[in-house]
Amino acid sequence: MVDEPVNWEEREHDATAAVAAAATLDALDDARVRYLGRKSELAQALRGVRDRESGILLNGIRGRLEAALEARRGELEREQLEAAFADDAFDVTVPGTPVARGRLHLLTQTRREIEDVFLGLGYSVWDGDEVATVWENFDALTSDPGHPSRSQNDTFYLDADTVLRTHTSPDQIRALQASPPPIYMISPGRCYRRDTPDATHSPTFLQVEALAVDRHITLADLRGTVQYLVRELFGQEREVRMRTSFFPFTEPSVEFDITCFICGGAGCGTCKHSGWIEMGGAGCVDPDVFRNVGLDPAEWSGFAFGLGIERIAMLRHGLPDLRAFWENDLRVLGQF
Ligand code: FA5
Repeated sequence: MVDEPVNWEEREHDATAAVAAAATLDALDDARVRYLGRKSELAQALRGVRDRESGILLNGIRGRLEAALEARRGELEREQLEAAFADDAFDVTVPGTPVARGRLHLLTQTRREIEDVFLGLGYSVWDGDEVATVWENFDALTSDPGHPSRSQNDTFYLDADTVLRTHTSPDQIRALQASPPPIYMISPGRCYRRDTPDATHSPTFLQVEALAVDRHITLADLRGTVQYLVRELFGQEREVRMRTSFFPFTEPSVEFDITCFICGGAGCGTCKHSGWIEMGGAGCVDPDVFRNVGLDPAEWSGFAFGLGIERIAMLRHGLPDLRAFWENDLRVLGQF
């Protein structure tokens, strides 16, 4: 039996059509095996080539078919990729879901602003314990042993000798014991009293204590420091006045007021028509306090003052009720 001579032109045409018709990468691979694989008619013919013309012809067909296969593979891979993108479509230009940006609580902002003012004056910032001994919180501060503020109705006792501090003033004692003067420190932090919550009172609140101890400190230094703080916090036009008062651990003791920031001192509802707003307690360190920590009051003098941080934040931002700080209503807190 004599083999029919292969019509290579026809074979190439069939193979090219099969490559073009392959709709998937698997179908394309089948076409490759069939027309170019080791057992294909073309591969076998190439192995038997004896003359130059047949070699040129068959190698030409192989080269063109390989090129057609590669081109079709590229097309199919691109189609596959586009289909995958279409299935799992995402538009990179669509705006993302907004993430609410957090911010510092207004009381933290206020505390940090106060700290910055004092850091600028060269004071150090203390982080005093909220638990104090009765001695630190009351006795060393020369509080009267029978004073009602010591009672369990006013103060949270942890045991007979330990309380949740009722003010930041025990940090005066701790600072005086920690290192010898000169001392320039502030101590912001949480305090506790058995006060019934209302618009200006909470059982837990923040105070900041300031203590300066050095040689030859006078009430004028206290006044200048308070005035500087008040003007940094409330504006350069604010005036400060002092009124005599009483605290067991300061002598003399004063309370200081600032000119009302609403009416500028003319009198309005916020300042109860007095033109002044109360800011805090202060005074020169009592000689007995120095004695209680083993310092000589003839050598050392000092001043101290204590402010309510909620009160400062309320005054600065016109908030009528301190409870807003703790209720955590983001519609309120988010404004600051
Ligand atoms: C004192 O606590 C003194 N230790 C202040 C002091 C320090 C005087 C150094 C002299 C030298 P007073 O009890 O007045 O003082 O409290 C000071 C401030 O703390 C008040 O003006 C008020 O703003 C704030 N405060 C007191 N109790 C509460 C409370 N229950 N809720 C919110 N703020 C309060």
